[in-house]
Amino acid sequence: MCGIIGYVGDEAAAPIVYQGLENLEYRGYDSAGIALVNDGGGLTVAKRSGEVSNLTVPDAPDATCGIGHTRWSTHGPPTDANAHPHTDCTDSIAVVHNGIIENHEELRAELDAHEFTSDTDTEVVPHLLEAARADEAVPDLRAALERVIDRLEGSYAVCVVDREADRIVAARDGSPLVIGHGEDAAFVASDVTAFLDRTREVTYLEDGDVADLSADGDVEVFAAGDAAGSEPVDRGVETVEWEADAAEKAGYEHYMRKEIHEQPSALRQTISGRIDIDRGRVDLDVSFPPGFLADLEEIQIVACGTSNYAGRYAARLFEDLAGVRATVEIASEYDFGAGRSPDRTLVVAVTQSGETADTLGAIRRANAAGARTVAVTNTLGSTVTREVDDTAFIRAGPEIGVAATKTFASQVATLSMLAVAIGRERGALAAADARSVLEDLRGLPGAVQQVLDAEDRVRAAASEYGDGEAFFFVGRDLGVPVALEGALKLKEISYDHAEGFAAGELKHGPLALVTADTPVLAVLTAGGRASETMNNVTEAQTRGAPAIGCVSAADEYDTLDVSLPVPDVGTFEPLVANVHLQLFAYHVANDNGRPIDKPRNLAKSVTVE
Ligand code: F6R
Repeated sequence: MCGIIGYVGDEAAAPIVYQGLENLEYRGYDSAGIALVNDGGGLTVAKRSGEVSNLTVPDAPDATCGIGHTRWSTHGPPTDANAHPHTDCTDSIAVVHNGIIENHEELRAELDAHEFTSDTDTEVVPHLLEAARADEAVPDLRAALERVIDRLEGSYAVCVVDREADRIVAARDGSPLVIGHGEDAAFVASDVTAFLDRTREVTYLEDGDVADLSADGDVEVFAAGDAAGSEPVDRGVETVEWEADAAEKAGYEHYMRKEIHEQPSALRQTISGRIDIDRGRVDLDVSFPPGFLADLEEIQIVACGTSNYAGRYAARLFEDLAGVRATVEIASEYDFGAGRSPDRTLVVAVTQSGETADTLGAIRRANAAGARTVAVTNTLGSTVTREVDDTAFIRAGPEIGVAATKTFASQVATLSMLAVAIGRERGALAAADARSVLEDLRGLPGAVQQVLDAEDRVRAAASEYGDGEAFFFVGRDLGVPVALEGALKLKEISYDHAEGFAAGELKHGPLALVTADTPVLAVLTAGGRASETMNNVTEAQTRGAPAIGCVSAADEYDTLDVSLPVPDVGTFEPLVANVHLQLFAYHVANDNGRPIDKPRNLAKSVTVE
């Protein structure tokens, strides 16, 4: 939620910051703004509600230091006044912020001599900085920021410039911030995608860090100590492996469709080098203390939204393949639970971004209870990786479309490998059974490709049935999380009413909603108790509903209005069926002219609780 970018170096800052904002727009698109340090002193600030393209970039070729912000509103509506950057009373200091300052009302009350111009929580920061700068005991901007962050409660990533020098100071606590090291230049941003076209050498800041970026590209990082920020630290430099064009549209009209089509290659990367089919073994680089897996009683999966549905899919695999009871919790509702033994429980956080506040909260509760924790994430250096005992990366590559697509597939694939690894190590899964699952996993990218190659079929179904009043997605067993995910995808990008159900539940209530204007989409594959599900579909058809089924290659249901074939990949067939449902959602939304990559009210990385 909210994207921030800063640049200081020897080139004109405005176009670099603007490009960074375009790259970060998936994090929020309620408003955008830029602050530049003018050559010879003073600040130029431009900001505007709406998308980044609404912003007029200041013509300031001599300004070589600037910060920018793209907003997902929390405090205050998406107006020009509430757009970042925010400044102090004298327009000497400009601040961009991602996160929520929970004690902003109390701080605002203290600053009654200052003139506020917005409704945001953020605006207290420049005014607090102004007050700190007025104190002679505070030598410079970094010292002022260290003093200010001591007063802040909540979460923040902030970047600050002042009119006096080409220099950016930045700090994080609870919201992501990464430094980019260029030649005679330095960048700071919420995410590496902001500056990946300029450098791949990065330093991930940790909570409590303050960074000082100077005009020659030097970056110093200070960690919170007894006196906050007083200790210089070396956070190391990492090289981002993927190329900048991985985050571009490559000829597709929308990131979402590009990312749907990237699933075969994403899945290959997820699996690559990790499975040994002959031995029925998996190497995920996740290790456990001796004896831990033998005594394991429960796996608790915590996640939100699409990641939660990937977790639901995996829970079934953990039970079947690893022989361990597995539960799935919505992260914001999670509590470790009475009567459980922390030393016999593994808590798995599934999170594409690694920054979802609800999921981080759940992991912190699990850690506090003393459980062992693992993260399954797409994002190197993300906060979750620092909070858990071990991390399995899903390696799906950057996902820019707000609606998660390829990362769902790669999450399920990674979790299924974890299930095999645990099952084998516990002795719960025979080598032959592991081989069979891993064979199916190896066949998964090819099966997804076959579905993608048949896109015209689902495009036609979307055009014929896409104007329904509501859409019901049904499945059984592994088809249930896919039905839930299919409905989520359709509702978030098309704004149509869609619901997912366990097919058997239709007759316990939802059938009352079924009419000739409510298409039913069903998962009728292996792993999804297809013939029982088909009985429920028939009940809906009897009430007039058109039915679209994702059907195993081996089966045929003549009564379906549309049959979308799913190649034979055993346990993973519902996951392949999901690709049909992603394309259905995409084409319905596209036919209705929706802003597919930026659905209203949403953002990619949800860093508020
Ligand atoms: C839906 C979607 C969201 C995310 C959820 C969790 O398409 O993308 O439901 O799955 O916000 O995000 P992560 O996986 O980053 O924790």
